[in-house]
Amino acid sequence: MSTSVFIDVTVLHPTRKHPTIFDAFDNIPEGEAIVIHNDHDPKPLYYQLLGERGNSFSWVYLNNGPEIWEVEIRKNIKGVETIGEIAGKDMKKAMRLKELGIDFCCGGKRTLEEACLEKGLDVMRVKAELEETSKQPQGIELDFNSFTLSFLSDYIVNVHHTFVNQNLPVLEDLSKKVAEHHGNSMPFLINIYTKVRELRCELTSHMKKEEQILFPIIKQLENGGAVNIGFDSIVDPIYVMEKDHDIAGDLMKEIRMVAKDYAIPVSACNSVKMLYHKLIEFENDLFQHIHLENNILFPRAMKLEKLFKEVL
Ligand SMILES: [Fe+2]
Ligand SMILES: [Fe+2]
Repeated sequence: MSTSVFIDVTVLHPTRKHPTIFDAFDNIPEGEAIVIHNDHDPKPLYYQLLGERGNSFSWVYLNNGPEIWEVEIRKNIKGVETIGEIAGKDMKKAMRLKELGIDFCCGGKRTLEEACLEKGLDVMRVKAELEETSKQPQGIELDFNSFTLSFLSDYIVNVHHTFVNQNLPVLEDLSKKVAEHHGNSMPFLINIYTKVRELRCELTSHMKKEEQILFPIIKQLENGGAVNIGFDSIVDPIYVMEKDHDIAGDLMKEIRMVAKDYAIPVSACNSVKMLYHKLIEFENDLFQHIHLENNILFPRAMKLEKLFKEVL
């Protein structure tokens, strides 16, 4: 794979920025990439591209600010799935990807090749492992792709939002307790407590936005087709929700890093052990929660809206 086009967006007239990038993207062959150079985060372009070209590209930051942003936009080779798509179709593969440390939630728009390259993993070996994993029997599996969008929204609220609402207060209390009791000898526990509080604040307001704004819009779309949703497109609120997911996902990664991958410290008491256990449990649930939204619910909702717009 090679990079074929470099576009310095800062020198283009504002009206020519997006059309130039779209033209360049449309004209590169599959597997090739364009690199855009900008003086601000071009994320709105990502959503415009996603809305108009679908899941046909990967988006990788080569430089992520604060002064310069450079993004490689690679056109997918047809038939090559993104890791979000792979995970969305098979939960066993999703779990194996997680074990390998491959983020298929917030980083689900990349191909397996790109994710393996970033992690220094042998892609052929990972592919073989995924195939092997998918053959293994597992308990009761839910086919989330067969759910209607309304049912999937309700499922997410009832299972995952309820889990967050029940467990985050417990996690905050527990992390506060261990920070107060052991913060002197293990200062990183104070850091964990601070991040758990941040996570609670972030997720509480995020879930409210999903329950009160986005999910009702998705249900309306599914039940009534094109309706007045108060936005130009459903892509707009989805963009906001995915940004929130990035923030929550980053916080969870930071907690894992501070906790040294949840290796129990030698001097840890039972409360610290319990905290680590609950954090791992919470991370697993959050991963599944964001996966269902980023890789299944949101792409299907955007696809449905596109379909309605084409018909009208
Ligand atoms: Fe959610
Ligand atoms: Fe969410």
